[in-house]
Formats: sequence, C-alpha cells, structure tokens
Amino acid sequence: MKANLVIGLLADGQVHSGESLANQLAVSRTAVWKQVRKAMEQGYRIETIRGKGYRMLTRVDLLSRNAVLERLDSNLRQRVDLSVLDEVDSTNAEVIRRQAEISPGTIPVCIADCQTAGRGRRGRPWRSPRGENIYISFGLTFPGGFAMLDGLSLVFGVAIAEALEVAGAQDIGLKWPNDLYCSGRKLGGILVELQGELEEGVVRVIVGVGLNVHMTAAPDVDQPWTSLARELDGQDWQRNALASALVTSVVGAADEFSASGFSPFRERWQGRDIFSGRQLAAKQGEVAGTGRGIDDQGNYLIESTDGVEAVRAGEISLRVAAP
Ligand code: BTN
Repeated sequence: MKANLVIGLLADGQVHSGESLANQLAVSRTAVWKQVRKAMEQGYRIETIRGKGYRMLTRVDLLSRNAVLERLDSNLRQRVDLSVLDEVDSTNAEVIRRQAEISPGTIPVCIADCQTAGRGRRGRPWRSPRGENIYISFGLTFPGGFAMLDGLSLVFGVAIAEALEVAGAQDIGLKWPNDLYCSGRKLGGILVELQGELEEGVVRVIVGVGLNVHMTAAPDVDQPWTSLARELDGQDWQRNALASALVTSVVGAADEFSASGFSPFRERWQGRDIFSGRQLAAKQGEVAGTGRGIDDQGNYLIESTDGVEAVRAGEISLRVAAP
C-alpha cells in the first residue's frame, strides 16, 4: 500500500480511527500504522490521538494525474502523455527517458511530487521538497532548425507568468532570460535543455519549470525567494489546477512560437522586465548601463554612454549594479 493513500484519507484534517482507515483501504491496522509512520518520515505532521486515531496537521495538496487531465481541453488531453510521479531524480531527465517510449508527435509531460536530483541553470541543484511545489517538464519539438530558436527560452517565462496571473497571482515579473519573480524575489525558474535535431530541421527541446507554491521555509536556498502562498496568503492554491494551467499555457505558447516566431512575445516579455530602467552590470563589469529590455532575438539591451550593447541570451548573467 502506498503512503499516499493514507495521506489522501487524512487530508481533510479530521480525526480518523485506525479501524476506519484499515476498512477503507482493506488492509490491517498495523499496515495503516506503518503507512502513517512512513508519511511522518516523509515530513507530514500527523497527530496520533490515543484511543481515537490519527489527524493530519500538515496542509495536504496531493497531485493527481486525473485531476490535471480533467482540467485540460480535450484536444490538448489527446496531445500529451502525462506522467505524475511520487518521486523522481529530475522531471527533465524523466521526459528524456519517456521520449524513447511514446508515439511520435505526442508531447511527454512529467510532474513529480519531489525530485531527488532537481537541476537548476548553470549546473546548480534545484531544491525540490516533497508536497510543496510544482516540478514539471515538457518534451517539445520545433521545426526550422536551431536558427529558429532565437528567443525561445524567454517564451516560456511569458507563458508561465500569464498562466499564473489567470490563476490569481499578481505582478509576476521576469528576470532575463526567464526567471519568475514576485515582490523582488524568485518565485520559480525554467531550465531549457536543447536535445538536438530529431530529423532534418526538427529540433527537440526539454523545458523544466520549478514553481514555489506552498513553500514557506527553505533554509539552504542562498538567494531571496518567495512562493505563491507567501505572496497571497489565504488563497487556496491547488497544484493540480496550477499544473494544468501551466500545461495549457506552455503548449499553447510553443504552438504560437512555431507558427509566428518570437515577435508576438516580445512586448509581453518587456511588460514584465524587472531590469527595465535599472543600472545593470554584466560580463564582470565590462558592460554597465541602463536596462532597456530585449531585441528581436531575445538578447538583453544595455544602454551606456558608448551606445546600446546586446547581451546574448544564455551567455552571462545580469545583475543590478551596486549603487
Ligand atoms: C533555475 O535554475 O532557475 C531553473 C530551475 C528549473 C527547475 C526545474 S524543476 C522541474 C525541472 N526538473 C529539473 O531537474 N529542473 C527543472
């Protein structure tokens, strides 16, 4: 029996006797206790009340494949191969593995409750605690060869920011190239990995999104961060609803990019640029000036007394200059 089943029954926060849990799950009371203990080891706070039973103290927001699928438009539901996993090394790595197994033309999408080796940009780890956040990856293909991919990594930032605002978040900013920001702190990150050419001119890309949803403590994260729950306390964020909104928006943006390239996204990206008009430094201070948004290829523009210099996407990181 999976610990998830007992967690699901306790999710309402009410007291459940060992006997009623055992009956509902058709297992022994000892098996129920073992699963309660396993859930506690995973970090769930469960009160054991003598003579009465168990009560879940942690807020539970379980992922469910059906709950994600049922919110998707029927056409989209048929285009995706969705796996929802309890635990995985990295959802990006899982999508790469899945691609070999599914029918061509289908979009592999993987969501996990936790990652044991979550990957961030620049080889950094991505902290991926259980039950708290969204870790989701997509395997996408684009026609036109590598030359057509200008600006692609910025497109996903726009897609996710727009989906979050439809879901009730406010003022989602983008830090070039595609970090998601809110109130000056990082809310999520996107890892785009080019897989190479599948066949003549068709390029395969893995897009992984890490979005902080319920997380309220992360002692080992070394940069200012936030989560949807921290920003909008009191809103009942549900990961299944958020995940299906992300699937709809990311696949929709990929279709739009395939049809029309980066130009429909440029203004939408610029409207969220957290660096616009700020004093910036790049390339170890070699380039310094005022942030002026992006060009048609998604490069970042910095204006100095020498003119406007374009900083290439993926090359370097930008930072706000010390006053
Ligand atoms: C960043 O460093 O800002 C990008 C973080 C991307 C993290 C996500 S979580 C889902 C997917 N799987 C991974 O291993 N990484 C991405």
